[in-house]
Amino acid sequence: MAVEPVVYGASERPPRGDYSRAAADYTCSQDYLGYTPADHDTYRRLYERQAALVHGRACDKFLQALPSLGVKDHIPRFEEINDRLYPATHWQIVAVPGLIPEVPFFTLLANRKFPVTDWIRTPKEFDYIVEPDVFHDLFGHVPLLFNPVFADYMQQYGQGGLKAHGLGSCELLSRLYWYTVEFGLIRQDDGQRAYGAGILSSPGELRYAIESPQPQRLPLDVERVMRTRYKIDSFQQTYFVIDSFQQLFEATAPDFTPLYERVKQLPELAADGSA
Ligand code: PHE
Ligand code: FE
Repeated sequence: MAVEPVVYGASERPPRGDYSRAAADYTCSQDYLGYTPADHDTYRRLYERQAALVHGRACDKFLQALPSLGVKDHIPRFEEINDRLYPATHWQIVAVPGLIPEVPFFTLLANRKFPVTDWIRTPKEFDYIVEPDVFHDLFGHVPLLFNPVFADYMQQYGQGGLKAHGLGSCELLSRLYWYTVEFGLIRQDDGQRAYGAGILSSPGELRYAIESPQPQRLPLDVERVMRTRYKIDSFQQTYFVIDSFQQLFEATAPDFTPLYERVKQLPELAADGSA
């Protein structure tokens, strides 16, 4: 079953997942018996560290849903999460060997299936890992799939991705994913909070994104998001802040076809917002 591994961004290493395990849609079964006691311990320690940081930094809807991930002291079985997730929002998580190409990725999302990498980082990568692993994918992404509005946004994103692919606009759309699903902030009555998975699963960036005076925090502006490049190997210099998931859903509902054409005529902005 010859599916090719994928690398996004500038990486010298090939991705480490074993893609020979993947079916044609890039999904595989969670290799549960392949986890060592050390793997389960890594998950337990990552969960414990991050759970101690989320209060006052993660948005309320994330905090409400976090217990739905279930066990904290070892890597959960994906089926057990699905037993709670599917009844909540008709989403399911599916195992993948690592990053997957755009079209299979968008197709899964459009079918309300979220791909979760099944392997976990090594202890050396405890503080920082470039590729998504099972901790990033579960802790960062899955709790908000329990929220009906965010869950619908993710499906719309998948459908929009298939359309963007046909329009040669995947790079512009990927910036929307980056600045919302991965690094989004949301305004609450008690202050700005994180909802993006890249922030929520990172101890350093969770504190930085909420507390540091350094980055700029701009109100969500879809056109500006699409013009703004991003860095995959440092904390963000720009965050975009939404007022609610409903606002995010509505701001991204219009047909992007004319927007892509307009943005392609405009100069790009650097990750720090400069021209
Ligand atoms: N409205 C977008 C389009 O027409 C689809 C989309 C929705 C993309 C939500 C991202 C997020 O392409
Ligand atoms: Fe992610």
